[in-house]
Formats: sequence, structure tokens, C-alpha cells
Amino acid sequence: MDYRHWGLRGLVFIFIVLLHFTNGDLDYSIQEEMKHGSIIGNVAKDLGIDVGRMTARKARIETERNSKGYCDVNLRTGDLTVAKRIDREELCGEKASCILKFELLLESPLELNRISLNIKDINDNAPLFPKDAIKLEIRESADKGARYRVNAAHDADIGQNGVQSYILHDNRHFILNTQTTSAGIKYAELVLDQELDREEQHEMKLLLTALDGGSPQRSGTLTIDVTVLDANDNAPVFSQAVYEASLPENSPMKTQVITVSATDADEGVNGEVTYEFSKMSDKSRKLFSLDQKTGDVTVIGDIDFEEGSKYEIYVEAKDGYGLSTDTKVIVFITDDNDNAPIISLKSLTNPVPENVSPGTEIGIINVEDIDSEQNRQVRCFIQQSVPFKLIPSIKNYYSLVTTDTLDRELMPNYNITITVIDEGSPPLSSFKTVQVSIADVNDNPPVFDEQSYSAYVSENNKPGHTLCAVTARDPDWRQNGTVIYSLLPGEVNGAPVSSYLSVNGDTGVIQSVRSFDYEQFNSFKVYVMARDNGSPPLSSNVTVSVFITDVNDNTPQILYPATEGNSFMTELVPNAAQGGSLVSKVIAVDGDSGQNAWLSYHIIKSTDPGLFKIDLHSGEIRTQRDISDSDNMKQNIIVAVKDNGQPSLSATCSMFLLISDNLAEVPELKDMAYEDTSSKLTSYLIIALVSVSTFFLTFIIIILGLRFCQRRKPRLLFDGAVAIPSSYLPPNYADVDGTGTLRSTYNYDAYLTTGSRTSDFKFVTSYNDNTLPADQTLRKNPTDFEEVFGDLDSSPEVNIN
Ligand SMILES: *[C@@H]1O[C@H](CO)[C@@H](O)[C@H](O)[C@H]1NC(C)=O
Ligand SMILES: *[C@@H]1O[C@H](CO)[C@@H](O)[C@H](O)[C@H]1NC(C)=O
Ligand SMILES: *[C@@H]1O[C@H](CO)[C@@H](O)[C@H](O)[C@H]1NC(C)=O
Repeated sequence: MDYRHWGLRGLVFIFIVLLHFTNGDLDYSIQEEMKHGSIIGNVAKDLGIDVGRMTARKARIETERNSKGYCDVNLRTGDLTVAKRIDREELCGEKASCILKFELLLESPLELNRISLNIKDINDNAPLFPKDAIKLEIRESADKGARYRVNAAHDADIGQNGVQSYILHDNRHFILNTQTTSAGIKYAELVLDQELDREEQHEMKLLLTALDGGSPQRSGTLTIDVTVLDANDNAPVFSQAVYEASLPENSPMKTQVITVSATDADEGVNGEVTYEFSKMSDKSRKLFSLDQKTGDVTVIGDIDFEEGSKYEIYVEAKDGYGLSTDTKVIVFITDDNDNAPIISLKSLTNPVPENVSPGTEIGIINVEDIDSEQNRQVRCFIQQSVPFKLIPSIKNYYSLVTTDTLDRELMPNYNITITVIDEGSPPLSSFKTVQVSIADVNDNPPVFDEQSYSAYVSENNKPGHTLCAVTARDPDWRQNGTVIYSLLPGEVNGAPVSSYLSVNGDTGVIQSVRSFDYEQFNSFKVYVMARDNGSPPLSSNVTVSVFITDVNDNTPQILYPATEGNSFMTELVPNAAQGGSLVSKVIAVDGDSGQNAWLSYHIIKSTDPGLFKIDLHSGEIRTQRDISDSDNMKQNIIVAVKDNGQPSLSATCSMFLLISDNLAEVPELKDMAYEDTSSKLTSYLIIALVSVSTFFLTFIIIILGLRFCQRRKPRLLFDGAVAIPSSYLPPNYADVDGTGTLRSTYNYDAYLTTGSRTSDFKFVTSYNDNTLPADQTLRKNPTDFEEVFGDLDSSPEVNIN
């Protein structure tokens, strides 16, 4: 076994074609019949390929149909080995050179190297005569020197291993003469050396041996039975030494291929020539038949150009005596476009990650058309609009590459139909569908259904109350699209958000962790994050605004008159007071808001029910009629302040009124109080203080009025003052924290008094006010009130101790 490396010629060749191919050609030569696993050569070394990368590059041997499986490449060593028995005779028959062609295919990058394997003959076949025995009939009168041709022995081997010589075993009559035909075939002639005498010997046996030139030498033997005849005889003669015919493949049965004809000079039965095949391969025996009488060669099988393009048949013509001659018939088969191209997928990356860049090679396709010439020229293409195309690579290989970015979320798989058409006429085509699925990459973050979420909850809710649910969607696959919800860390009023809310990681349901108090704060914001389970994970967040709605959980607080302790207040009513005169005013606030803080004032008990009335909304106490002398000097009124909640809460206070122009007239205050315990002296002091405070109160009201006219967000409004801020109108829309519009169901009508023009005022709590100190619970409005009065460094309450 020997093989050639790159010769100088090869290098020059490579240099010339370098611009067109990156692949090289290798020529090896081995003898036929090598043992399985025999090493032919080291392709890695001869091509300069890194042996370590052979596996990664999926190195493999590709062959055409008729030379499949003869060779293999060892990916560890780079050796090209024999994979199955190579019989030169089976592969190439009589051809002088027998070359197997392979391709060594490597991927990434695609590289094709041609390998030619020259199969050398060994002498593994003996010469063989067409028949083991023949009959030869020779006339008695034959002259010395007469020649009798014996059909040549054939040896499947070629060259020196073919038939080289003949030996005729000892006999008295014949000597051997070896001849060579124009085609180079050696045959034997028997030459009569000593005349025959039928009376002496009418039959004899000759032994002819054919020898080849191989080592060891092989031989074949023919027995010739000679019968001595007493009549003249001539052997038939063919009209041509070699017949040639051309036959299109797929010719129907009984198509006449050629007619051979031989003539015989003899007359009668001696001149009757019959024809028969002498030597032919098993293959041609199935394809052709010969008419014994006419010499017509006809088709009896399927003629396939791809199975064989040339047949050599030997025909023997025989006359009645058995004298014979042979001739050769060569049938050339012509190609017909009867084979559609075949697409085979040589490699495919499947699935393809969706983030591959355009132009990525994902597969290699081979197209083979076993017809010849024009009939095997092919065009290969993809007709659909898919982001893939075919790029011609080497020879009949094509790369399948992406032309665009892929998105699994839009198109998770493709059926790519590859069409191939040859250039025969009519052209034949075929197609192949390649299924490519796209693998997911975590390229989509979860996206919330809403831009932001709002939840509304009534205060005093139970912990565990469900506020709302957030939903985010992620179109990625499996864990890359699995959404997990969580609260982003943050603070609400100085406490971590987790102490207020919890979110269910799987469902996105948000629940309260504690009970909320509207009076403490009426809204807060948290961030909820949705994260997928990819690696690395992607996330997005959303704001959830929680609005706490008011519940009527605060009773009205009466600021004036003070109800706390055992103090009481007395208002002085002039004797001359006319009907409708303002006497005093009950001032109350409510920690709730809206309806729940909408207060109404009622006199529930009074000394003289007809004398005083209270304004339902303003709490102003006025005389109903002129004071008369008959009226009791000491009047006592009990006022109830109710809010408008459901159910409504109320508070009561009592007020003392003294009808007098003169403090001196004031009787013992002790008598007025239902539970008077003060000393006389203190009573006087109180009366004095009350007078002062009445005056003082009026003064304050004026001051307040002035202040409030200047404030942007009034907390106190004078009745009838046109300066009601437009932000309260229309009352159905109140802005909540500047973030959005509160739904009308959560809207509270700010109550505006409609009472007297002189001294009405009302506390309006603002939704916007969330600047309360944390420790403050119930006294929001009172504080406001105090803030207002703070400047005066005095309380509106007049306490009498
Ligand atoms: C591809 O073909 C398969 C099977 O024939 C089918 O199930 C699939 O839906 C096809 N895909 C597309 C994108 O047409
Ligand atoms: C998720 O995406 C990553 C890349 O981001 C990928 O490696 C993984 O295979 C994907 N998982 C699934 C289930 O598709
Ligand atoms: C929440 O999302 C916004 C915008 O989408 C981003 O600016 C902010 O950094 C995110 N916050 C956190 C804590 O991830």
C-alpha cells in the first residue's frame, strides 16, 4: 500500500485555484481486497487539518451512490481506513484504471476535500474459458498448418494479471499459436501439425491451459474434444470484427439493439450459422437477448444509464459442424433525464436560538442528480417568504442561512421547503421540507396589563383584605416566561411597605397586612415588581396606589363651648336683643371627611324652646323673637352636633345664656348651672371673662376672615365669601394627591355654609392634607383650628375653672 502526498503539481494546482476553492484534492492508491480497517492514509496530516477539531467540525466521508461505505475516517487519528471489501473487478470491471471518488466534508466553516482512491488490481481471479469444454470437428482432409481458433479465455483481472499465455498439453497432431486481437485480447489457435486420419483415430481430447501473468500465477483449463470428420468444412465469419450500438436508456422491451451476422462458406447444414452469447456479465445477461437464427440483439430488461453506460457482449457464431467464431458487441447507453435531483440534509442546527444574527449558517444541504451532463445541472431555492435562504457553497452543497432576525414569540417554528430543479428537458424537480424550530431566549421582560394600578379600601379594614390583583405577561417560553410578583422595598410613613401590604408571588393578588386609618393617611403608593424566571431574569415594575376611604368612625368634636371637664360657658344676651340677633355659636369639627364630617346642629333641650333657634348648618344661635321682660333671665340650651355618616355620630354640649345688659344684674351663676359648684367670686370672674371672650371671638372671626382670604387653600371659609376656590368646583371632581382623578363614588362634597353673612364659618378638611404628624389620630381638624389660631397665641375656648 502506498499513497502520494501533495506533489509539486498539486501545490501548483492549489495555487491556481486558491481563489475559487479552499478545499484540496488528495490522491491515494491501494490494492483491492484490503482488510477492513486497513489504513489508506492520514487525511488530517495531508490536508493540514487539526486532528483535535475533526470531531467538532463533524468531519465525514461523503460519497456518491455507487461508492458508498468503502472508506471511513477515524476522527481521533485522522486516518482514512478501508470500511468494506473493495473488489476492483466488481467496481470497475475491465476498466484499466479504477478510481473511487470521495469527499471529506468538514463543517464550520464548510470545507470539501476531494479524495481519489486508485484501486490497484491484484491477481485474485484465474483465467476462465467461456465453456469448460468445447467440441471441435475437423475434416480428415485438413492440411497441415490449418488453424482452428479457440475462444479466448478471460481473466477478470487486468494488465499483467490478465491472460498472458496459453499452453497446449502434449499431443501428436496440434501445436499452439497464440494470437492477439486488435482489442488486445490474447487467444489461442490450434494449428494442425500432423495430418489426421479418421480411420486411425476419429476422436481425441486436447487440454488447453490459459495462464495469467500475476504472482502467484493462476490458470484456467479447457477441454477440447476433437472429432475427425470426412467432409469439407468452413468456420463462419462475422461481417465486422466489433459491432457498436447506441441505445437510449429506458428503451422498451424488445427494442432491437443491433443485428450481428456471420456467413459460412459451406453449403447445407454445414453453412447454417447459429448465434449465441459466449461471454457476458450477469448484468448484461439480464438485459439483452440474442436471436439464435437472425442474430438480432434485443432488450429484455430495464436499461438504466445510471446502472451502466456501456456493455460489452461476446457473440459466437457456429455452423452445423460446430466450427465457431466470436465477435464483440459494444452497446453504449445514452442518458435520459429520468432521475429527479435528490436533496439531502447533511447537517442542521435544530432548534435555532432566536437571538442568532442574520447570516448564521444553520444547515448544509446536498443536491445530487445522478443523470449526466445537462440533466444533472440543478438549481436550488426556497420559494416561501421565510427568513432563510440557500447560499451555494462547494460543488453541489448549499448553506442554509438566516436572512433576518428570528423571534420565537412571533414564529416558533418554520417549515422550509427547498425546491430543486434540473436542466434536463423536460426538467425534473423535487422538494424537501426542513423543519426548524426556534429556541427561546429570555428576551421579553414581563409587562403589566396596566400602566398603574389603584386600589380602594375602606378604613378599619381587616388584615388580609384583598385590595386588588396585578397581572403581568411574559411571552417567553416556560421559565423564561414565568412571572413572579414581589413588592419592591420602600417605606410608607416610615415603616416598610411589607408591614402594610403583601403580594402573592404567583397570582399577583395584593392583600393588606394591617388595618388602615383614613385619618392617619388616606393614600400611599407601592411598587410591585414582576420578574421572570429566566437567567438572567428580566423584570418590570408598576405603581400600585392604595386609596383609603373614610368610614364614619369619629364623633363630632365640639370646640366651643368646651364640653370637657366641668367648665361651662355663659353668653350674655342684651335685654334689647331683637328677633334674629346672633347670640352665640357652637363650633364643632369631625375627624372624618366628606359626608362623615358634614355636621348639623340641633337644639335638643332648652329652658324656653321658643326663644332661641340654632342654624342647622352654621351652629349659630339666634333669638327667635324680641326678648321680653317676662323671659327668664337664665336660659340653658343643650345642643347636639350630628355628622351625616351612616350611622351618624353625635356629640352634645350645653350653653348658658344670660339675658342682661349689665353684669351686675347677673344672678348667682351657681343657680344657672345644673351642677354649679363655683364660688360667687369666681362666677363674677367668669362673667367678666365671657363678656370679654364674646368680644374677643368676634374679633378673631374678623382676623380669620382676613387670613383666609389670603390663603390659597382655605380651611375656614366665610359664608358668602366669593373666594371659594375653584378647585372645589364642580364638587364631583377632586384631585387626589395630584396623581389621578378620584372616582365620583369616592367624592365628597365639600360642605359650604349657607347661613348668615356675618359670622358663618366652616371647617373644610382637605383631601390633600396628609402632612399630619404620625402621632395624631383623631384631632386633625382641631389641630387645623389651632394652627389658625396659633398666631393669636390664644385658644378660642374659654375655660372657666
Ligand atoms: C410545519 O409542519 C408541521 C407538521 O407537518 C405542522 O404541525 C406545523 O404546524 C407546521 N408549521 C408551520 C409553521 O407551518
Ligand atoms: C430561556 O432563555 C435562556 C437564554 O436566555 C435559554 O438558554 C434557555 O434555554 C431558555 N429556556 C427555555 C425553557 O426555553
Ligand atoms: C421601576 O421602573 C421604572 C421605569 O420602568 C424604573 O425607572 C425604576 O428604576 C424601576 N424601579 C426599580 C426599583 O426597579
